Amino acid sequence: MKTALITGITGQDGSYLAEFLLKKKYHVFGLERRTSKRNRESIEHLIDKVELLSGDLLDAESITRALKQSKPDEVYNLASQSFIPDSWRQPVYTGEATGLGVTRMLEAVREFDPNIKFYQASTSEMFGKVRATPQNEGTPFHPRSPYGVAKLYGHWITINYRESYGMFAVSGILFNHESPRRGLEFVTRKITHTAAKIKLGLAKELRLGNTSAERDWGFAGDYVEAMWLMLQQEKPQDYVIASGETHSVEDFVQATFKYLKLDPKKYVKIDKKFFRPAETDYLRGDAGKARRELGWKPKVGFEKLVQMMVDADLAALSSSKISK
Ligand code: NAP
Ligand code: GDD
Repeated sequence: MKTALITGITGQDGSYLAEFLLKKKYHVFGLERRTSKRNRESIEHLIDKVELLSGDLLDAESITRALKQSKPDEVYNLASQSFIPDSWRQPVYTGEATGLGVTRMLEAVREFDPNIKFYQASTSEMFGKVRATPQNEGTPFHPRSPYGVAKLYGHWITINYRESYGMFAVSGILFNHESPRRGLEFVTRKITHTAAKIKLGLAKELRLGNTSAERDWGFAGDYVEAMWLMLQQEKPQDYVIASGETHSVEDFVQATFKYLKLDPKKYVKIDKKFFRPAETDYLRGDAGKARRELGWKPKVGFEKLVQMMVDADLAALSSSKISK
């Protein structure tokens, strides 16, 4: 039986990865922050199946303690301050958690057991103001947010530990991936959740920022498999994981409202408050290397993703409406 330690287990990807690894018969540990309000919604159904350890990427000792307690074969570093607008509001904190946090993880792994395999959650946001399309492992980076800059540091320090110490440390450069467990502040879930509320008479409008922005969206459940596959290879390498399709935020709005048989013109308002100081306008990934070498490809397409998220929001909101 293999053992894995997942940082960020309470997040969207952490919950899907924990489910995936449990199905593969892993012993799963998760690093969880001690916060004033426990944030376990996404992993409530897994609480008896995983072991939660208290820790924070800002606290090196807590990471070392978690490694000693779990003795993992594989570490998946998914924890980060991941909401891009907050990275302008808290740039130094974002650098600490999303950037330096990776070094704290790598250093703790190196000192405890350098044979542990390490996965770093890198991101398409590192491509930012894109220099080529589609973006692949060789495309130059130009991050457009303090978050993107911090992630780029995390990306390069992972490569550096691989090259300096021969560690099995890899970065998955994942393009946007969504699900019914996506945080409500991210645009896809904000759209499906608010539109479902409008449908049920619980909201009157949907306020959005830049709806021209274009993203390469996939389903989180498909993407966690790629993380695992990267750690099962003979050689440590970085991979782009993407759907290869681009849609605008406006397309996402249209697909959501069409599915709900609502007219978006009646409800969607543009609000300057949600525009960013600098924007990543367009992303489209080329996951050819992952397809060839990992045998990975996405299963859930754009329309199905929208419908899955809308259905889940409608069901959850309807049942909470009934219980009120
Ligand atoms: P998410 O839902 O925002 O989850 C982030 C997780 O990190 C949460 O469990 C959070 O814990 C934890 N965390 C935050 N700061 C921490 C700290 N200082 N110490 C320990 N844990 C901390 O993110 P996600 O969508 O699952 O994404 C997973 C990772 O992939 C992130 O690193 C993200 O930046 C990256 N990524 C995501 C995407 C995407 O499209 N989803 C694409 C590329 C890369 P709390 O519950 O305590 O807040
Ligand atoms: N959040 C949000 N809210 N975004 C909006 C809104 C709004 O009201 N209106 C328009 N947008 C636009 C943003 O300006 C951005 O261009 C796009 O919608 C997507 O925003 P998010 O869903 O917040 O995702 P993101 O692309 O900024 O970041 C996500 O994907 C990255 C991978 O490229 C996060 O998951 C990051 O952690 C991840 O690395």
